[in-house]
Amino acid sequence: MKGVISGAALALTSFATAVSSKVIPRQQGSLPAVTSEGNAFWANGERFYVRGVAYQPGGAADAADPLLDLEALRRDVENFKELGINTVRIYTIDNSQNHDEAMALLDEAGIYLALDANTPEYSLNRENEASLHASYNDVYLQSVFATIDAFAGYSNLLLFFSGNEVINARNNTNAAPYVKAVTRDMKNYIRAQSSREIPVGYSSADVAENIEAQALYFACGDDEIARSDFFAFNDYSWCDPSSFTLSGWDAKVETYKNYSLPLFLSEFGCITNTREWNEIAALYSENMTIAYSGGLAYEYTLEANGYGLVELSGNSVQPNEDFDRLKEAYAATPNPTGDGGARTTRTVPECPPETDEWRVGTTLLPEMPEGAQRYFEDGAGTGPGLEGDGSQWAGEPSATEPDLSNGVSSTEAQDTSFDSSASGGNSSSSSNSSSSGGGDEGAASTARPVAMLTVLALAVGFAAAL
Ligand SMILES: *[C@@H]1O[C@H](CO)[C@@H](O)[C@H](O)[C@H]1NC(C)=O
Ligand SMILES: *[C@@H]1O[C@H](CO)[C@@H](O)[C@H](O)[C@H]1NC(C)=O
Ligand SMILES: *[C@@H]1O[C@H](CO)[C@@H](O)[C@H](O)[C@H]1NC(C)=O
Ligand SMILES: *[C@@H]1O[C@H](CO)[C@@H](O)[C@H](O)[C@H]1NC(C)=O
Ligand SMILES: *[C@@H]1O[C@H](CO)[C@@H](O)[C@H](O)[C@H]1NC(C)=O
Repeated sequence: MKGVISGAALALTSFATAVSSKVIPRQQGSLPAVTSEGNAFWANGERFYVRGVAYQPGGAADAADPLLDLEALRRDVENFKELGINTVRIYTIDNSQNHDEAMALLDEAGIYLALDANTPEYSLNRENEASLHASYNDVYLQSVFATIDAFAGYSNLLLFFSGNEVINARNNTNAAPYVKAVTRDMKNYIRAQSSREIPVGYSSADVAENIEAQALYFACGDDEIARSDFFAFNDYSWCDPSSFTLSGWDAKVETYKNYSLPLFLSEFGCITNTREWNEIAALYSENMTIAYSGGLAYEYTLEANGYGLVELSGNSVQPNEDFDRLKEAYAATPNPTGDGGARTTRTVPECPPETDEWRVGTTLLPEMPEGAQRYFEDGAGTGPGLEGDGSQWAGEPSATEPDLSNGVSSTEAQDTSFDSSASGGNSSSSSNSSSSGGGDEGAASTARPVAMLTVLALAVGFAAAL
């Protein structure tokens, strides 16, 4: 499939070289930027592990930006420090607003942000092939790129999720090429407009029948820019009382120990029984750190789904016993010394073959919608925030057919404008690299009750096949 370089791909080359309006860093922060190399994350030459919580006050149903309520954030940051975490995950932000002060508060507390680039109204629609094709459009990408603009300048922006649980069942693996296309477009945009590399990858639902194919799919392919910088999955399979072997996590380490990319749990914390958080000791032991880079406990505030470490009452929060146990577990579990068994080299895996459980019969991806190309030169401009009209049926879609029969296998993304100083040299592949993409969207994981669907899942709730 190599060698198909579309007209749009060539156009990408020419506009990417003409960057004149890079994002001006707003606030550098004191934390070192994190990079992805081999199968791990690194900060200042040291291995970096995600030790975090999902931060979604109000739950998935209330898609609000928790970084805009500074008073609540100040209060919560004290609890983050108490918990001893270094990362929060936020599912929805308002990309029309300034986040300088909130990001400074997190930075001062030693906390990074793992940020979903989609919002309920600005995301892919996985209902069927036609809705996927229609929702991958320039209006959608403008919102995603505006989110990149809004956060790229903060050194404590850890990574972007290009999608969350878009593939949430056995029958919607056909969303994968769109998710990969969005990942590609985000990476190309960062190279064109940001002064540093920022890891981009997908947060997947733990669908037993296709999770391994997903992991390979986002890591494979000839096109360097289309391959993710990490892979993450939401895993609720360790339910205390359990152990490394009883949970089956030992088998997962066997499965992923050769995996090419950093891997982490973008959500974890089964509530079937009392959470003792014994998985923390396993997750940050060398049993697992040869393949895993930590994870994000779900979730900070107690919501209707029953998950939560603090209870909100008016303007105050009260940590519960779950909070205390998680705090103890984190405190009792230092990171492994040295590199924890990580590799610094990467071997690109073969793409997964088409099967009954993996209905992706091509490595071709949809070409980026042409209308989005101007953002590479001009920047994305103001984002639509959370009040916009939504993107799923707006704008112009990709010129690629919905069945991808005339898709692209490589896109020239000449990143001569990329300032590699922050991330260790010419990491950005050859000047003739190809492309593919990344996507997005959220949905339910097979291991969780419906009530705890994340924000993006609800965004396309009508499409979810629960
Ligand atoms: C895992 O990686 C090692 C070292 O690169 C290699 O020798 C081995 O064949 C790989 N195993 C699998 C199952 O791919
Ligand atoms: C690491 O694996 C060994 C062998 O399965 C097991 O006995 C031990 O409890 C594990 N350690 C942790 C911290 O889970
Ligand atoms: C990056 O690549 C260019 C062109 O191949 C080369 O001239 C330059 O020395 C490289 N820079 C680093 C830091 O490797
Ligand atoms: C890059 O593209 C140019 C122009 O299309 C071509 O002449 C050159 O051989 C390519 N280089 C590589 C390394 O593919
Ligand atoms: C998957 O199956 C569910 C339940 O049968 C259905 O509602 C949904 O539309 C299907 N999704 C796709 C993408 O075919």
